[in-house]
Amino acid sequence: MIPKETIDTIFETARIEEVVRDFVNLKKRGANMIGNCPFHDEKTPSFTVSPTKNIYKCFGCGKGGHAVNFVMEIDQLSYPEALKYIAKKYNIEVPKEEQTPEQIEKYNLRESLFIVNSFANDYFRNSLHKTVEGKAVGLSYFKERGLSEEIINKFQLGYNPDSWDAFTKSALESSHKQEFLEKTGLSIFKEDKTFDRFKGRVIFPIHSISGRILGFGGRALKKDEKAKYLNSPESEIYHKAKVLYGMYFSKSAIVKNDSCLIVEGYTDVISMYQSGVENVVASSGTAIGSEQIKMISRYTKNIILLFDSDYAGINAATKAIDLIHTENMNVKVALLPEGEDPDSYTKKYGPEGLTQYINEQVQDFVEFKINLLDEKSKNDPIKKVNLISEIMQSIAKIPDGITREVYIDKCSKLLEIGKQKLENKVNELILNGKAAKKVIKEVVKKAENSTALTKRLAKSEFQEKDVIRFMLQYGDYKINPYDEKEKNTEDDKIYVTQYILIEFKDENLFSNPNYALIYKTYEEAINRGTLLTEEYFTQHKDPVISQVAVDIISNQYSVSKKWQKHGIYTETEEMQLKKAVDTAIYSLKIAKISELIETKNIELSKGDNDNINLLVEINNMLKIKREISEKLGRIVLR
Ligand code: CTP
Ligand code: MN
Repeated sequence: MIPKETIDTIFETARIEEVVRDFVNLKKRGANMIGNCPFHDEKTPSFTVSPTKNIYKCFGCGKGGHAVNFVMEIDQLSYPEALKYIAKKYNIEVPKEEQTPEQIEKYNLRESLFIVNSFANDYFRNSLHKTVEGKAVGLSYFKERGLSEEIINKFQLGYNPDSWDAFTKSALESSHKQEFLEKTGLSIFKEDKTFDRFKGRVIFPIHSISGRILGFGGRALKKDEKAKYLNSPESEIYHKAKVLYGMYFSKSAIVKNDSCLIVEGYTDVISMYQSGVENVVASSGTAIGSEQIKMISRYTKNIILLFDSDYAGINAATKAIDLIHTENMNVKVALLPEGEDPDSYTKKYGPEGLTQYINEQVQDFVEFKINLLDEKSKNDPIKKVNLISEIMQSIAKIPDGITREVYIDKCSKLLEIGKQKLENKVNELILNGKAAKKVIKEVVKKAENSTALTKRLAKSEFQEKDVIRFMLQYGDYKINPYDEKEKNTEDDKIYVTQYILIEFKDENLFSNPNYALIYKTYEEAINRGTLLTEEYFTQHKDPVISQVAVDIISNQYSVSKKWQKHGIYTETEEMQLKKAVDTAIYSLKIAKISELIETKNIELSKGDNDNINLLVEINNMLKIKREISEKLGRIVLR
């Protein structure tokens, strides 16, 4: 348990824009900031951050809340883990607690795997820095490769001792369960034997974007090992296709440079980072995939592939280019000289040498593909036709028409072929190809979403929401409770929240449980003599409450801009506010009574009840409904 005072400090310190900015490229828009939503795919930004309200809200997918919610959502963290993440960011000390075996028992699977990985990470780092073997074998290896103490610590590199089960034994002794050691892949249990997966290897921990350990890569130090690298297997917390090595460290540099370099290996990332090129990531042990590209697109639309010039490198670059285009992002390629990777190149020519090389060599994908044809093949018609067809297929994957045009133009010049012919070919490919399918899929999805939304808002939910919105946004505004002008004295005025509570006469009409809870919380506070503020709910410790509150107040429509300035409003504006509040109250009452009438009518139609009594009931309700409707009508005329 994190102490309450610490939780309060975390909430008081966290600034939504500072927390979000670590994950989303935000731009100023008036008093707010906007960016592409990290929770759903979008081309035009609808993700909004309000520094004044200290909340975020996406108008595309509906997600919203405070800083803690955001962190929970973006990296699937539990509440305490999200709190710890923010505490770390702001240097707030969270008292460390020893985990008792009973506590460990309580965690769910994902959390248990994280706990084991975190234990392993500490163990590997300790054995690298504090043991004789680790220092002699592991640390000296890293030093030999030119890594500084600082970068070794930053990337949390480690070492697994060269004995069959040194790590596993230590983990079991510290009450970690075999089940989790097995599921994280750190240990292998075979019959009655136990092995460390990473025996005798140096360790590269793989971090999530918020810095938790998802898995490890282990590099062999002996020449005769079968595999140079071994990686953690897929698990409940480690999905290779969704992880980029180095992202946790490089995301702010990617935003700052508005570009991201993709390299092939762990050591490439680390040595480039060490030499000052910090906007760099690698995919770990697999080909780069669309999930990874999407992840980068939150921070920048510009990718540079920095690959080896061998067959594998070129092949990987070719595949990556199409994926990047499909995501509507820009891609450039720089191939390194034969036999070099970024790590070795930096070592030979220094960081400036590498940067200069990239600047000189970087080419857009059309240049990249054309340059793959050597001089001789350029005159080979079959090869040329194949190449043109390949390039056209790549261009057809670019969703943006202007970008396609630019590349078609370039191709036409470099390959000396008429522009119109190329354009026709691309259009043909688009019509037949996946691009069209993707558009159709998006349209269908949008339609589905909007019907789902109307279904959710059906019945009285909308009216319930509106009343709660007045409590949240205007609850601390004073209005005159009487309709008559002569009674309108300053002393008679009451808060909107009080007014609403009185109107409903202690009746909690809300069927949405969250709205009901907010209403009840207001009511109880008023009975204690306190008036709760909007912030009380938007910054609520219960993530569900805060999300609901944010969702309500960040509705895109607003009653009247004039009321937005706190406290100061004219008499006519006050009357308008009263009118709006009354409308909300009566609309909810009408909606509720209509619902009731509807259920009674259904009962009546079933005919297995006392008809006369039902009819009387329905008649009474219709009368009440008429009265309220009349009141509502009068408000509109007022
Ligand atoms: N890789 C892997 N398993 C292997 C070989 C490679 O997972 N058996 C992954 C690693 O992430 C590695 C990357 O592919 O970092 C690139 O491989 P390679 O170029 O062979 O390794 P380097 O990063 O250059 O490693 P080093 O410089 O330590 O030799
Ligand atoms: Mn290398």
